[in-house]
Amino acid sequence: MRLRMDLKSQINLEKVPRHIAIIMDGNGRWAKQHGKPRVFGHRNGVKAVRETTEAAAELGIQHLTLYAFSTENWNRPKLEVNALMTLLVETIQAEVNTLNKNDIRLTAIGDIAKLPERSYRALQDGMEKTRNNKRMNLILALNYSAKWEILNAARELAAKVEAGQLKPADIDEKKFINALSTKGIPDPELLIRTSGENRISNFLLWQIAYAELYFTPTLWPDFQKEHLYQAIIDYQHRERRFGKISEQLV
Ligand code: IPE
Ligand code: IPE
Ligand code: MG
Repeated sequence: MRLRMDLKSQINLEKVPRHIAIIMDGNGRWAKQHGKPRVFGHRNGVKAVRETTEAAAELGIQHLTLYAFSTENWNRPKLEVNALMTLLVETIQAEVNTLNKNDIRLTAIGDIAKLPERSYRALQDGMEKTRNNKRMNLILALNYSAKWEILNAARELAAKVEAGQLKPADIDEKKFINALSTKGIPDPELLIRTSGENRISNFLLWQIAYAELYFTPTLWPDFQKEHLYQAIIDYQHRERRFGKISEQLV
């Protein structure tokens, strides 16, 4: 507890990231360590989601994106996929009141229309019931793939060109950004991945062009508030140069 207080007090609240994105990884290995089936890891991963969401909101983070299910994850054993989809429904239904109490809005990115009917409906319901909340935007990446998102944007812009509404020469960063599923959301300044894997796994490829990357060996179910504090402190000690040299930054 003392450690937690100490870490939190090291954070400069005026310079917290506006947007933090997290690749929540390591549930399966955590379960294995505990001699339990993988699903047990996913269930305990929900606790980490709760902790992290609460900590982020308390710090005044405006957007928190959590990678919950990638398009590649459909290739897992059917039993695990079904368990994850059921867990999604149960979690949203169980948490919607807490989200409202804490003024947190639930949104989603990814090809959510292709989720199983029940998961899709629970998600829509959760988003609808929290849509007026203002304190923080909790964005679930579900059936998400960054390549899918970029291709989609290209297709949308190409269709506008074909319809004569847009000239190819007029396609700039702003138009492209507005065709992504993260439209209206600032790019994450900080990307965290747990479980010791040092890769991006098809997550937010466009949006992390200048994000600070933070990799931690902590397995997702073990991730607690102090782990988030530690990542933010690390981020705040970095120099973000955006191509310039140190001396140009004030
Ligand atoms: C992350 O944990 C959760 C999802 C991808 C849904 P994993 O299930 O990938 O756990 P590991 O990587 O196998 O330990
Ligand atoms: C990335 O984790 C996807 C999510 C966290 C939802 P994975 O465990 O699926 O990533 P890889 O396949 O090991 O790269
Ligand atoms: Mg994994």
